[in-house]
Amino acid sequence: QKKMILDLDTGIDDALAIAYALASDEVDLIGITSTYGNVVTAEAGQNSLRILELLGRTDIPVYLGLPHSSTTDHFDVMQVSKDIHGVNGIGEVSLPTAPRAVENKSAVDFMIEAARQYGDDLIIVPTGPMTNLAAALAQAPEITALVGNVTFMGGALTVPGNVTEVGEANINQDPAAADQVLRSPFNLTMVGLDVTLRTLLTKKETQLWRDLGTKSSVAFANIVDYYIDAYAALNPQLHGCALHDPLAVGVALDPSLVQTIGLNMKVETEAPFAARTVGDVDRLDLPTTNVQVAVNVDVPKYLQRFMHRLTALFAH
Ligand code: BDR
Ligand code: CA
Repeated sequence: QKKMILDLDTGIDDALAIAYALASDEVDLIGITSTYGNVVTAEAGQNSLRILELLGRTDIPVYLGLPHSSTTDHFDVMQVSKDIHGVNGIGEVSLPTAPRAVENKSAVDFMIEAARQYGDDLIIVPTGPMTNLAAALAQAPEITALVGNVTFMGGALTVPGNVTEVGEANINQDPAAADQVLRSPFNLTMVGLDVTLRTLLTKKETQLWRDLGTKSSVAFANIVDYYIDAYAALNPQLHGCALHDPLAVGVALDPSLVQTIGLNMKVETEAPFAARTVGDVDRLDLPTTNVQVAVNVDVPKYLQRFMHRLTALFAH
């Protein structure tokens, strides 16, 4: 069985990523690390604890990561994040504060220790800024050769960004960290806006959860309906909310859900193209590539699997 660490800025689609991982028998979620983005890092940790409590998985440890990007000393949640995920990150649905606390160990130390312990069996799935992973890489560069795969949600290769013309939200929070990770020897899979904007959920699906009538199915229906309404207001051309972060989990577990192209990539760190994920011209001639970039996705297969797994999880 594969081991997985989710590195989340727990947000609504991050919460769906937790549910997808817990609903997947082929993987053991060994811990959740927390980052900033949709909410501040401490709140991301609390939201992860709340979601785990809701899903009855109080055995999974939650760790706090760094509070801001590698090139700043402060982080404020952007207004657009509050609009999409709600001020509390989970669609203004009030879930009780979890009775347990986050772990004392830092997210970065946990990642490094897990890489040493599980090696090739470990998949790290960052679905927020990659500040924690870049810090782990700086502290213990040997983990790049140990970890099986890093499947991250972020970036945009063939489509525009969602927070700037070229910048996707997660990469845009810390372009320098993302650049360090992409240019490292990690075995990487990029699940960016190229594919995540094609996997959309509507109220037809959340109604099925609501009809189940369990505590978790109704809570998730309420949380995701907030996200669907926000998407309708901000992206009326889309007809549903994008399942960004759970797609990264789906692809990490079954790469056949997407078509990829192999590239050596970098992230622009300077204006005017900061946060753009792009081929690294300095490494174009290398015989090997370290990033598989998802450029096409089997939408019906993924959506069916997503609904099948989450509905079964929420049913009991
Ligand atoms: C990404 O940004 C965050 O708001 C979402 O949770 C997702 O990880 C999409 O650009
Ligand atoms: Ca996220």
